[in-house]
Amino acid sequence: MLKETSHSDQVVAELIGASKKFKSGNIEITALHKTDLTLKKGELLLIIGPSGSGKTTLLSLIGCVLYPTKGCVCIHGINTKELNDKELAGLRRKEIGFVFQHFNLISPLSSEENIMVPLILNKLSKDTVKEKVLQALSLVGLGQRKKSLPKQLSGGEQQRVAIARALVSDPSIILCDEPTASLDEESMEVVMKELSDLADSGKAVAIVTHDFRLKDYADRILFLENGRVIEEKGER
Ligand SMILES: Nc1ncnc2c1ncn2[C@@H]1O[C@H](COP(=O)(O)OP(=O)(O)OP(=O)(O)O)[C@@H](O)[C@H]1O
Ligand SMILES: [Mg+2]
Repeated sequence: MLKETSHSDQVVAELIGASKKFKSGNIEITALHKTDLTLKKGELLLIIGPSGSGKTTLLSLIGCVLYPTKGCVCIHGINTKELNDKELAGLRRKEIGFVFQHFNLISPLSSEENIMVPLILNKLSKDTVKEKVLQALSLVGLGQRKKSLPKQLSGGEQQRVAIARALVSDPSIILCDEPTASLDEESMEVVMKELSDLADSGKAVAIVTHDFRLKDYADRILFLENGRVIEEKGER
């Protein structure tokens, strides 16, 4: 008899009662109230909410860029609390591609050098690195711009380099913070088509946005307000 794939086989990232508070001076801000969330293989999850609603905080918890104040984050069933810094860094490098809200490209490095950064720590031959970098750049339509510095690229092109950098190490989870913020309609469609193809190929993709145009590409949508998930739409 064929064994059915269980729900848990599909879950790649999970937040269990995870919350995040920040302290600045005497003030304590709850950026994210207690949240349960699963991100599954093959889905494109959209997280929509107004500015300050906790979207980047939520994505950073899934991406293990921030630790939760309470609760826990599991990646492929591993509770990240049980990992030391080195193990956590290894898990992040292997499993998670993060496109930050402010691209975070390194300004003195060209497009191809920026994309190479995550590969440097993996022991790959120079030729393999070059090939992977060119593949990732071509995927976002910037094969011709590998020698360009970030300042020589438009905002949208920089965003596409940041996406290529997140893809190059072939992570199972791709997290994008406002990936289409500075893109025109046509580039937005190119980027979103690429991200939904990645989800169809079995990656788990979570995208944070203000942009309601992205709704058409989502398998599931979470609406955030004041640090809480107030609504969820769609289920695969
Ligand atoms: N490092 C920090 N220190 C203090 N407060 C923070 C910090 N990071 C976020 N916050 C606060 O937590 C709340 C949620 O922030 P977050 O960046 O998650 O919002 P967001 O939904 O991503 O907003 P935007 O759409 O403007 O990017 C905000 O009130 C913000 O000021
Ligand atoms: Mg944000």
